[in-house]
Order: sequence, then C-alpha cells, then structure tokens
Amino acid sequence: SGSVIIAPSILASDFSRLGEEVAAIDRAGADWVHLDVMDGHFVPNITFGPAVVKAIRPVSEKFFDCHLMIEPCDPFLEAFAEAGCDGLTVHAEATRHLDRSLRTIKALGKRAGVALNPATSEETIRYVLDKVDLVLVMTVNPGFGGQAFLPATLDKIRAVKAMIGDRPIDIEVDGGIAVETAASVVEAGANVLVAGSALFRGTAAGYGRNIETLRDAAYG
Ligand code: DX5
Ligand code: ZN
Repeated sequence: SGSVIIAPSILASDFSRLGEEVAAIDRAGADWVHLDVMDGHFVPNITFGPAVVKAIRPVSEKFFDCHLMIEPCDPFLEAFAEAGCDGLTVHAEATRHLDRSLRTIKALGKRAGVALNPATSEETIRYVLDKVDLVLVMTVNPGFGGQAFLPATLDKIRAVKAMIGDRPIDIEVDGGIAVETAASVVEAGANVLVAGSALFRGTAAGYGRNIETLRDAAYG
C-alpha cells in the first residue's frame, strides 16, 4: 500500500494560540491539517466556523481537511471553500441528498469526502462513489476528542476498501487513533490517519516525535 497521511486534528490544540499551534504542527511534519467543525445540533458540541478557518489559512500551506459535523451542510459549503479548505467532508447522516452535496463540493473545485458514523453502513455510499475522493470512517461517535476507538469499525474499513476497489479514493479514520490502534486501521485499509490527543500532547517541541511515533506504528 502507499504511504500513510498523518492529519493532526487541531481540536486537541490550545485554541488561545491557534495560529502558533497550526504553524507548529506544520513544522513538525503533519501531512494535512484536520479541521473539526461542529454545530451543537448534528453533534453535541460546538467548535468554529469559516472565519476561524480563514484566519489560520495563511499560517500553513498544508492540505486543509475540513470535517463538517453540521446539519444542514449544503448552505455552508461555499463559505468553507472560500475560507480556504482544500477538502470538504460531509456526513452521510447530515444531508438528505448526499449526491447533491458531493456535486456541490466538486463544483466548488474542492476534494469531496463523505463521513460515516459508527452505526452507518458503507452501503450508504455505494451509488455516489463516482463523486467521492475520500471516505471518512468514524472510529468514535463524533463530537469530542479523547474517546476510545471502536473496534467494530475495522470490519467497515475492510468493507469500504473492498467496495472502492481500484478507484483512487482515500480511506480516512478519525477518533481514538494512537500508537495502539494505528497498525490495525492501516492493515484494514485506511491510508489517512486523523489524530488529536495522540499528537497534541506535551509541548510543541515534541509534536514532531509524536507524529513520527504514530507514523512508525502505522506501518506495524
Ligand atoms: C471527533 C473529531 C475528531 C477528534 C479526534 O468528533 O472528528 O477529529 O478530534 O480526537 P482524538 O484523536 O483525540 O480521538
Ligand atoms: Zn474529525
């Protein structure tokens, strides 16, 4: 398999120093920057919106991977695209017309992702795979950092991997990804690892080591 992409979730960073944290994780060797947008409606927590994405955009040239945990999502896609996101991932459970939401993202010129909650079947995405660049298999229930990885999601990662076949679609995992779980998700087929608490621990000086430790663990 190809190389693993490490995407630190800034949800676990120090929000009082958000720009410095994004700069630090960039310097430390992050491949992507994962942005968790929560609305207090689709998920039981609130984070930030497009204005914050726009404010941190000049700090890093890395791929801004925007995970939209908002319902509805369609009215906000353009604002997040204009704020500087490179990829927009919507939840299958948060849009009534998933095909339309994915078309909108592609029309905005962004990479299109679809996220699946732990209880959502991979069958939900079978007929939209021609419009998908990334499938995000949630490995916890979205809303909070620091939760325990759900082992039942490994079978779903395998099922998604089998379904996408040789299409050039990334499989991302998010939630409870750490040294203990990285090898199993990669073995199952994931190639993009989101991690918050496992990477933003210690001081900024240690972020590089945290990333390399996770990367090493991913290769078993
Ligand atoms: C959960 C978010 C995750 C979260 C992961 O709703 O989508 O990106 O920040 O945090 P950890 O890695 O701490 O489980
Ligand atoms: Zn996320």
